[in-house]
Amino acid sequence: VTAQVLVVGSANADLVVTAERRPAGGETVLGGDTETLPGGKGANTAVAAARLGADVALLGAVGDDAHGGLLLDSLKESGVRTEFVRVVSKPTGLAFITVTPDGENSILVSPGANRTLRPEDVTAALPGARVMVASLEIPLATVEHAVTTAAAAGTRTILNLSPVASVPEETLAAVDLLLVNQHEAALLLGKAEDTPVRAPELSGLLDLGPSTAVVTAGARGAVVVEADGLTEVPSPSVDVVDTTGAGDAFAGALATALCDGAALPDAVERAVRVAAFSVTRRGAQPSYPTVAELKVSQHA
Ligand code: RIB
Ligand code: NA
Repeated sequence: VTAQVLVVGSANADLVVTAERRPAGGETVLGGDTETLPGGKGANTAVAAARLGADVALLGAVGDDAHGGLLLDSLKESGVRTEFVRVVSKPTGLAFITVTPDGENSILVSPGANRTLRPEDVTAALPGARVMVASLEIPLATVEHAVTTAAAAGTRTILNLSPVASVPEETLAAVDLLLVNQHEAALLLGKAEDTPVRAPELSGLLDLGPSTAVVTAGARGAVVVEADGLTEVPSPSVDVVDTTGAGDAFAGALATALCDGAALPDAVERAVRVAAFSVTRRGAQPSYPTVAELKVSQHA
């Protein structure tokens, strides 16, 4: 039997440099020391879920190199099942990340091994999963196949459309829950990325096909979009150190809560708390809380 939560997505080694500001075109900026940390949207989501106690597997690919080893170690130490992580003869995906003092990041991804994830890889990993979460940075055909076959098998499908890409209508129609941030929501609704989206407009996301949507809004929490209306879920206020991977922590926590049978607004409330915790520490995977750490932080 496979895992209850299946995550389909990327695994990257994050090369993180802190800098006072990010370089503009043609400019050179000196930053701090480089840290190499386990990341990638898929691996991050799986690690977040496992730390919260989910029975979770990652369907992904890494290279036969030191970065691949770093990722497999982080996955295993966190309790993620790795039997569907293929080790291939391409370099492990890399993410070049700049973090500025406000905790904001910008990321350039070189997908490497992630490009080898094929639609047929989904077949072996899917049976038995109650919830499937897919994100981008892997071939779109694989994401599409994962979503449509999971939906056909009665598995609850979450599509974290990050980084945003244009996905066929049939795929979006098979999505139970579309997870995006405000920028991604703006682009999907046909606006410029920096246009603020007013909450009522978010119901337009359901016209694209998914049954429900959740839009994350950083420090402002998240908005749950359902056919019968919107629910705003505020975030606890925290000291922001590094927002890298907060959306992936959200996705992993959401999948875990839904797999446990939580109602959507409750699941989103838990996910908001986990994401808020993650931004208080550096890196993506290294910053994700265990159940015990979350409890302590709430009583602090
Ligand atoms: O969402 C954060 C992640 O995006 C990083 O860990 C990086 O690897 C990129 O995939
Ligand atoms: Na973090």
